[in-house]
Amino acid sequence: MSINGGVAVKLVNLTKYYGKFLAVDHLNLEIYDREIFGFLGPNGAGKSTTLLMITTVLRPSEGTAYVYGVDIRKDPDRVRQMVGIAFQDPKLYWVHTPYEILYWHARVCGYSSSEARQVVKEVLTRFDMWEARRKRAFELSGGMRKRVEIAKVFIQRPRLAIFDEPTAQIDVSGKHMIWEMIKELRDEGSTIILATNELYEADVLSDRVGIIYKGRIAALGTPQELKDTIPGGDVLEIDLDRPPSDEVVRRIEAEPEIVEVRRMNQRIRMYLNRVEEVLPRILAMLMESGYRVKRVDMREPTLDDVFLHYTGVKLVKEE
Ligand SMILES: Nc1ncnc2c1ncn2[C@@H]1O[C@H](COP(=O)(O)OP(=O)(O)OP(=O)(O)O)[C@@H](O)[C@H]1O
Ligand SMILES: [Mg+2]
Repeated sequence: MSINGGVAVKLVNLTKYYGKFLAVDHLNLEIYDREIFGFLGPNGAGKSTTLLMITTVLRPSEGTAYVYGVDIRKDPDRVRQMVGIAFQDPKLYWVHTPYEILYWHARVCGYSSSEARQVVKEVLTRFDMWEARRKRAFELSGGMRKRVEIAKVFIQRPRLAIFDEPTAQIDVSGKHMIWEMIKELRDEGSTIILATNELYEADVLSDRVGIIYKGRIAALGTPQELKDTIPGGDVLEIDLDRPPSDEVVRRIEAEPEIVEVRRMNQRIRMYLNRVEEVLPRILAMLMESGYRVKRVDMREPTLDDVFLHYTGVKLVKEE
């Protein structure tokens, strides 16, 4: 992506204070042309504030951003022509229907009336909103309202498309539909910025992820690169027929690739490197010591493990 396309968005010391509170702290970041960039962070991290500055809704306190080379502070009108955003909390006009909202949006985006009718029908159908097209906005459910907001971006098909927590109120099949459409939009040439606090969404959709925490970028890379940077990056769990002895735990800890061992009743959880080399030795040792192995589970680290590693806090509460 970086190789073909160059830079779509460049943040230079981008900063926002609300009063004395520093919400976005001197961000420096490049988002590449035609990538899906996931902005992952917990509530209050500064995601929306950053996106609202990029879209010229909020003015930065310090620093700036460039959208395809255009400075958001110097030429906001030109920036707005290139950018479309689906807001986290859509504010629809209450008296209008989904059909009217999208039809007028299409006209503003330059479609003729017959083209507008066609594209609105296509998008409403795809969003499973055709039947609800004549409901008034106050009669829509939260998820339906969100669908209308997101649909606007798919009508506009902007060069830079920004989605602020697009699937937060959306049901499972709706999520998959929106993820597919976001990928199609990227494949057709748009650059996508996606703010989310959902690990799975960031992981499956993003070409690169920036983890944002307290207004700063804590980590940046492809999901795989990020997972690979964690020491003890493989997770191995073994269930035994009885709780392991101290001796067994000590012998596991003595393995050079083991970073951490946790004992939970009959289960041993290990954070380690090169699990494929270590696992046979551990299994042999357990069997020699007279244990029966009831279950072995290996998993890759998740972005939650990455988040924990870089911020010291977990994004998801332990079950
Ligand atoms: N209009 C405002 N006035 C004062 N403080 C604000 C305002 N908007 C946001 N903040 C504060 O700025 C910080 C960042 O908020 P922001 O909405 O950018 O976070 P976020 O990452 O989008 O969170 P979420 O996942 O909840 O949407 C928070 O501490 C928030 O309380
Ligand atoms: Mg937000």
